[in-house]
Amino acid sequence: MKKISALLMLICAALLLCACTGEKPAAEEAAPIVIGFSQLGSESSWRIGNTKDMTEAAERAGITMMLKDGRQKQENQIAAIREFIAHRVDVIVFSPIVEDGWDNVLREAKQAGIPVLLIDRIIQTTDDSLYAGCIGADFYLEGRNAGEYLLKKADAMGAKELHVVEITGTEDSTPMRQRMKGFHSVVDGDSRIVTLESVNGDFLRSRGRECMEYLLKKYDGEIDVVYSHNDSMTLGAIEALEAAGVKPGQDVIIITVDGEQAAIDLLKEGKINCVVECTPMLGDEVMRLCTKLAGGEKIVKLTHPVEQVFTDFDDLTQIGPRGY
Ligand code: AHR
Repeated sequence: MKKISALLMLICAALLLCACTGEKPAAEEAAPIVIGFSQLGSESSWRIGNTKDMTEAAERAGITMMLKDGRQKQENQIAAIREFIAHRVDVIVFSPIVEDGWDNVLREAKQAGIPVLLIDRIIQTTDDSLYAGCIGADFYLEGRNAGEYLLKKADAMGAKELHVVEITGTEDSTPMRQRMKGFHSVVDGDSRIVTLESVNGDFLRSRGRECMEYLLKKYDGEIDVVYSHNDSMTLGAIEALEAAGVKPGQDVIIITVDGEQAAIDLLKEGKINCVVECTPMLGDEVMRLCTKLAGGEKIVKLTHPVEQVFTDFDDLTQIGPRGY
């Protein structure tokens, strides 16, 4: 009996103290937001920069982030999403490696009442209610920007015919589909631009080099332009060109997408002619959207970051450090 009264007195004292200081008892304090982030892999500097940015942004926002690396496989990402559902995270965030085949697992997330935020890439679905929103680049516009640069360059050179080879990103991914579509929507109507071949480099530097070696062998001396869907593949392609004694940026026009530091440095050196920006720095905005979703608020369905184009027509002295 004595023990119970002592305990009651202690509880009363704690409640009184909280009332005086205005603080909530620990048990009532809002639990931190927990998100599950399924990153698709680590194929490029862009991706590594994006993972780092997400990790740092979560820390800044006081959000606990469970991070799973999909290692370039859709099945790993699906398994990660199922784990996040089992953990009952507040929000599921993921970068879909390809566009198709997500409906089943997203239906499970919906049934569990967990909102889903897509980052970087989109999915194809007949049921848009399976995700709350998406934040990522306008890849179609990036492709168009690359094409518009090429037409401007052709005008400036007074070119009669330019032979293009294209090194594309991961098959059936949003950036691969949209960067290809956007570019061709601009250049295909111009009789000066002839696309020799599009080959798949999977966004990897090693594959970029292999693709370029193959193309150089097949189209010996005929290539005027390389349009590469990301910087990592471009860096590999440049290695192959230089090994073959071809001067990138001079003998062959190089157009790339992303804007990592190494690509900007090569643009300044004259080895790349055009860098279409795709920013990996999405973290702060992702955390802001996750906070809203965790609070039960609605968010805009699609958010695109503002992006630039850096070319050999521009003053390049003002480009700041890229951060990745
Ligand atoms: O989805 C964005 C693309 O994926 C980036 O352009 C590329 O570098 C990355 O691997």
